[in-house]
Amino acid sequence: MTIQSKTSTALTLVSDPVSPGLENTIAAETIFSHVDGAAGRLIVRGYDLEQLSDWSFEAVLALLWQGLVSHEDTEAEIRVALAQARVHAFRLIETLLPATDNLSQVEGLRLLLSSMPDAEPLAHHVLAVAAVPVFAAAIARRSAGLAPVAPDTTLGHAADFLHMLHGENAPAEKVKALDTYLVTVADHGLNASTFTARVIASTKAGVFSSVVGALCALKGPLHGGAPGPVLDMLDAIGDESNIRAWLVNALVRGERLMGFGHRIYRVRDPRADVLKQAVTGLRDSGGRINFAEAVEKEALALLAEKKPLRPLQTNVEFYTALVLEGVGFPRESFTNVFAAGRMAGWTAHILEQEHLGKLIRPQSKYVGPMPEAR
Ligand code: ACO
Repeated sequence: MTIQSKTSTALTLVSDPVSPGLENTIAAETIFSHVDGAAGRLIVRGYDLEQLSDWSFEAVLALLWQGLVSHEDTEAEIRVALAQARVHAFRLIETLLPATDNLSQVEGLRLLLSSMPDAEPLAHHVLAVAAVPVFAAAIARRSAGLAPVAPDTTLGHAADFLHMLHGENAPAEKVKALDTYLVTVADHGLNASTFTARVIASTKAGVFSSVVGALCALKGPLHGGAPGPVLDMLDAIGDESNIRAWLVNALVRGERLMGFGHRIYRVRDPRADVLKQAVTGLRDSGGRINFAEAVEKEALALLAEKKPLRPLQTNVEFYTALVLEGVGFPRESFTNVFAAGRMAGWTAHILEQEHLGKLIRPQSKYVGPMPEAR
């Protein structure tokens, strides 16, 4: 590589190439999950994702937190602790909710999460997980001109999320679909937001600061901001006769098709199938899912033509959009619902990093100008 120094003297640096996306860098050891991009397999603490799809979110939290916390070891204990913490989180929103008015829903969640004091006496990992549905539901309702609904401690986490969103108990099929969604996205290796959480946790900044940073990383359209745009894309296409023309035009304009491609998976993201199955369990999903399948088929064909050497397959966000729409979330809140599920993995990784007690501090390679010779 040739660069110019301050004095315009050409300077040549010969060094190892740095991969700007850290693609092949292993930056942590973890007991939580393994993403096998070649086989299309996700293992979560000894289980294939497909084995967990019938578990409750609380059971997956018990699996992830096991051995890292002194209390809340079992599914039942976690269910009770989360319910109490949701009530606690609800008290926190009273004064701050109006401050979210001119923000997007994910910005609103960012604001409310950052308001949690490090001096908070409740277990921080439990409160962080409990707070997201409380905050996300209140923000979504306020955007629709509705008052927040207090949590119901008799309900499980997914059921109460829908109850706080809709102001009434949701049918069992919707609770099941949301539980499956939360479980499916609970943890996924060292994705950008989890890595962010671990970096912040490694400085001993605490759980709340670490999860706020993680949420900021999740918010981008290349990570957790995609499912809303997936629905925008389906709406813009409109009907089956327009699928191919719309997708071709988008690709010609250089746009990315939302819900396709992944940094690690070179085959289909296994989470896409679990979520597709969850959508089919919803009574009113028929028309949307048939249309989405037709869009998916055409998109995969066009992406294969456009990038024959770079397999681009359906990722988790494509069917996420359908599940979350099917259980009644407004699309502006989708990233917040993703955060509700991924909070399981974030808190587990934060606990793991805190146990490790090692500051994450990589090095950079200097490619700027050298000082003039003295
Ligand atoms: N549509 C069209 N082209 C694509 C897409 C897509 N969805 N994804 C990748 N490509 C193309 C890129 O333009 C690039 O082409 P180029 O080499 O000519 O520039 C090539 O494929 C490789 O793409 P990269 O960005 O280098 O791949 P990377 O691994 O960094 O990106 C990512 C992965 C960000 C997910 C990408 O596939 C993407 O932007 N997808 C659309 C957004 C999306 O669905 N995000 C959700 C991801 S899942 C999650 O985080 C939970």
